[in-house]
Amino acid sequence: MRVLVVGSGGREHALCWALSASPLCDALFCAPGNAGIAEVATCLPTSAEDIAGLVALAKTEKIDFVVVGPEGPLVAGLVDKLKDAGIKAFGPSAQAARLEGSKGFMKDFFARHKIPTAAYGRFSEAGLAKAFITEKGAPIVVKADGLAAGKGVILCQSVAEAHAAIDSIMTEKTFGAAGNEVVVEEFLVGEEASFFAIVDGASALPLAAAQDHKAVGDGDTGPNTGGMGAYSPTPVVDEAMQARIMDEIILPTVRGMAQEGSPFIGVLFAGVMITKDGPKTLEFNVRFGDPECEVLMKRLKSDLLPALIAAVDGQLKNFDLRWHDETALTVIMAANGYPGTPQKGTVIGGLDAAAAIENVTVFHAGTKTEERDGKSVVVANGGRVLAVTAIGKDVREAQTRAYQGVDAIKWPGGFCRRDIGWRAVAREQKR
Ligand code: AMP
Ligand code: GLY
Repeated sequence: MRVLVVGSGGREHALCWALSASPLCDALFCAPGNAGIAEVATCLPTSAEDIAGLVALAKTEKIDFVVVGPEGPLVAGLVDKLKDAGIKAFGPSAQAARLEGSKGFMKDFFARHKIPTAAYGRFSEAGLAKAFITEKGAPIVVKADGLAAGKGVILCQSVAEAHAAIDSIMTEKTFGAAGNEVVVEEFLVGEEASFFAIVDGASALPLAAAQDHKAVGDGDTGPNTGGMGAYSPTPVVDEAMQARIMDEIILPTVRGMAQEGSPFIGVLFAGVMITKDGPKTLEFNVRFGDPECEVLMKRLKSDLLPALIAAVDGQLKNFDLRWHDETALTVIMAANGYPGTPQKGTVIGGLDAAAAIENVTVFHAGTKTEERDGKSVVVANGGRVLAVTAIGKDVREAQTRAYQGVDAIKWPGGFCRRDIGWRAVAREQKR
């Protein structure tokens, strides 16, 4: 089977790494890919946002199965267009992708189907949003309605800060059209986890939970990013909590989407706050998380491809996947300047030394190969650049190995957090 993965991040490298090991996969392509993906797949220079270009490419390359990584092309209808062209693709339709594409749609969906979430208001006028904030008081959360690369959420400790967030999103349009509407919601207190399930329109196969680290700095300080590191499994989602998340969040969503005429096929990713009153949904994403995908793929024992095909064919019921019991942990190395404007073009050394460490895999995100002084080198080409991923018998061992990998990489142009996994390490120490 000829398989095409769409995207160019660490998530897509991890997907390509897993898919390239499948006996069902005869040829693997990635558009546009990166320097690391080029080692396991043929990279083709079509952008993940170029919907018509991707459909044309899939036809030319006689692709049998497409796996779409990022949310942009899903929300823009890539899966629908591929289907029209007779090509099977894993991921939701544009209709179903609204779960991520519009926070207002998502919140109203939660309300219709009684899915636990933070209390909220939805506004398209700044004055009304501010009045609601004044009435509710702080702390409070302000969110741009549309896609804002994971940065459109502002946690406000005071009413003045929340009013300023409304001005920034709705008046100054910091996130462009994504800020035409806002959601203002209750501030939830608890520990956060990312929960993943593969869905075939009617049934859901739970994958695993992971914990992300969104803030740029150690100790969860500084502005939010797409994610600076992750580990899986996470002690905050034990078997009982997984069963609650499936029963209270995932399955009602799958049933609700089918009832409303937009059955969900793909990865359903619930951002969950584990509060003292149980799990509450912070958000849905309609794809694998990045960097969560890197740790999930490192832990997955079974072949990924048959599960993705079964989802598209509506055959997930009774499907089973096997996982390594060990913990996987990934540390993101980002280019200096991220999450602001990252510095591009700096040379990255030591990649082979890092990859040679036992149980360490270096997934690439924003990288490309360039000729410098007649030699081919890997250079930074984005904000998040590498996902140094390791597996170990517990979170401490995985963490030690991942940082051995990080320390083998010679890249003055980049930085990382030094505390990925701290919550789980603190729990292990308490025991
Ligand atoms: P979102 O993109 O909606 O998941 O929000 C990004 C991050 O903001 C989440 O991962 C949480 O850490 C935080 N967050 C979002 N909504 C809330 C909330 N209602 N209460 C507390 N924290 C929140
Ligand atoms: N790491 C969170 C996300 O992919 O949205």
